[in-house]
Amino acid sequence: MINIIHGDMLDVLRSLPDASVDCVATDPPYGETSLEWDRWPAGWPERLLRVLKPTGSMWVFGSLRMFFDHLPEFVGWQMSHEVIWEKQNGTGFFTDRFRRVHEMAVHFYPSASRWADIYKAPQMTLDARARVIRKKAKPAQWQGERGATVYRSEDGGPRLVRSVIFAPNEHGRALHPTQKPSVLVAPLLRYACPVGGVVLDPFAGSGTTGVVARECGMQAILIEKNAAFVDVIRQRLDDDAPLLRRAAE
Ligand SMILES: C[S@@+](CC[C@H](N)C(=O)[O-])C[C@H]1O[C@@H](n2cnc3c(N)ncnc32)[C@H](O)[C@@H]1O
Repeated sequence: MINIIHGDMLDVLRSLPDASVDCVATDPPYGETSLEWDRWPAGWPERLLRVLKPTGSMWVFGSLRMFFDHLPEFVGWQMSHEVIWEKQNGTGFFTDRFRRVHEMAVHFYPSASRWADIYKAPQMTLDARARVIRKKAKPAQWQGERGATVYRSEDGGPRLVRSVIFAPNEHGRALHPTQKPSVLVAPLLRYACPVGGVVLDPFAGSGTTGVVARECGMQAILIEKNAAFVDVIRQRLDDDAPLLRRAAE
């Protein structure tokens, strides 16, 4: 079940029960543009601890600058590791630095929990050297893994998925200015949430987390403050439904 909630995440979180969520996966407003919705709600990371199961964890997209700026607000969280999203082209605003072609997704778990007790499913591939999505592979309508990652290693043995994941950004087809590619989000959710578990995205945007969660057989709670983006989430979930049914046949 995908539950879409229109509202401010700080208000909505109050209505969610304690320890009801297996994993948080979110892409907060980085607070790096003048866009109306790009405002970091003060203290949000700490508010999520209550609703997370003690075995749960959290993926947060962001820039290194964003994490440094808000470090004290991650009180109660322990960082475990990070994944780098490498894009095909840059989105930076500056011409006096290196061309920025990456973003990060950082994985946290509650400081009150033991790492050994945190749910985690290390992701495997048949070719850990593969860094690009094969151009020849048929592009999937659903921007997921179908047709996008066909891997085979020389010895045929599975390897851990690399911490640098190349995925084209969604420019040209996105319904949200910062829409994340499903192919990038899928391994993060699979790593942190069991099948049938509940993923919470308190900054849902166009609902990528919900689209991927449903594809992976998980439930999701999506919170979004902007009514126009809530409509986009509904549209994406409706549009993808026949596609997902066809894929299952
Ligand atoms: C970076 S975008 C998320 C994009 C998303 N990952 C996607 O793939 O479409 C952050 C979203 O958080 C929403 N937002 C900002 N402040 C919020 C708040 N206090 N409560 C709920 N949503 C909020 C914004 O409207 C925006 O759509």
